Amino acid sequence: IKKRRGRIGDDSSSIVRSTINFASIPGVPKEFDYKELRKGTGNFDEKMKLGQGGYGVVYRATVVGEHGQSMEVAVKQFSGANTKGQEDFLAELSIINLLRHRNLVKLLGWCHQDGVLLLVYDFMPNGSLDRLLFGGGPEAPVLTWGHRYNIVAGVASALNYLHHEYDQRVIHRDIKPSNIMLDAAFNARLGDFGLARALETDKTSYTDKLGVPGTLGYIAPECFHTGRATRESDVFGFGAVILEIVSGRRISCSNAAGCSQLLEGVWQLHGAGGGRILEAVDRRLAPGEFDEGDAERLLLLGLACSHPNPAGLHVARAAGRARGRRRGDAGVRDQHGADLIVVVLR
Ligand SMILES: Nc1ncnc2c1ncn2[C@@H]1O[C@H](COP(=O)(O)OP(=O)(O)OP(=O)(O)O)[C@@H](O)[C@H]1O
Ligand SMILES: [Mg+2]
Repeated sequence: IKKRRGRIGDDSSSIVRSTINFASIPGVPKEFDYKELRKGTGNFDEKMKLGQGGYGVVYRATVVGEHGQSMEVAVKQFSGANTKGQEDFLAELSIINLLRHRNLVKLLGWCHQDGVLLLVYDFMPNGSLDRLLFGGGPEAPVLTWGHRYNIVAGVASALNYLHHEYDQRVIHRDIKPSNIMLDAAFNARLGDFGLARALETDKTSYTDKLGVPGTLGYIAPECFHTGRATRESDVFGFGAVILEIVSGRRISCSNAAGCSQLLEGVWQLHGAGGGRILEAVDRRLAPGEFDEGDAERLLLLGLACSHPNPAGLHVARAAGRARGRRRGDAGVRDQHGADLIVVVLR
């Protein structure tokens, strides 16, 4: 067994200066030149800032593409993040790099300079879902029902790929609207996948204090006992996001105990029967602007995915193609009619 090398964050003999020829490792993503990224972001100018999260800041940048063309990218700067040993780190980054799906934000490359790690991604012109759903004032355009449905289907498709289609099972661990980006055609692109295993951070959006990966409101209750993220816990977060997309309201919670009035509210409307669940649909969508059948199915799907007890109460949380699907089961299909996520309601 080889001895692990020092962590990159506290070792100035960084990956950049390492003697290993990384270009020879299959799947290793492109290494960007720090000077190019600094120039492309206007020296990490505040004006180029796209947003800030638990890991650090995301900048917009213009860089030169493979064929000499100028290209818009998003540069994510990780502050206070230690990567694992360099081989482990590049192995994880190579997995992320090999993931290719139309509903994932593509990783274009990386750069490491003076202890600062930068990851370069495709730039998403329509920003993240949190801003589209909750960001605008009263005058802001309302996300159409067609876009909302398509976003749910896109995220389901990305999860299905990560969980089932890709050779090495990938758990996302932080499904939430700010990690769902929209491309020029408003297709959902899931971002920030696979990072938890590649990085060790001392400042993250992960609820470290609780010893659980993820963001409050999107963490499955069983994770508080097990401390482990699973495919099912990703599906829990997806359920929370579905409810937010259909209702236009935030899951909003300040602590684990007082979480999710939205989830409880939709359960109550569902329990009241008589089609009252449709009262949970975003009020900004007038009757006729959304499909009632689809809205009801999506709300049921959101409830089922975010069910507190996936094993017990005759509800199976599952992202994947369904066998033995029955009437009353809730699901999302792709444009070819294939089931992407189905929750069996019995
Ligand atoms: N590829 C991208 N294209 C366009 N905007 C992006 C891209 N990546 C991130 N952003 C913007 O930058 C913001 C910050 O992203 P970041 O991932 O750092 O934080 P977060 O998602 O809010 O929290 P977390 O650290 O938990 O992921 C996002 O909300 C999004 O608006
Ligand atoms: Mg993010």
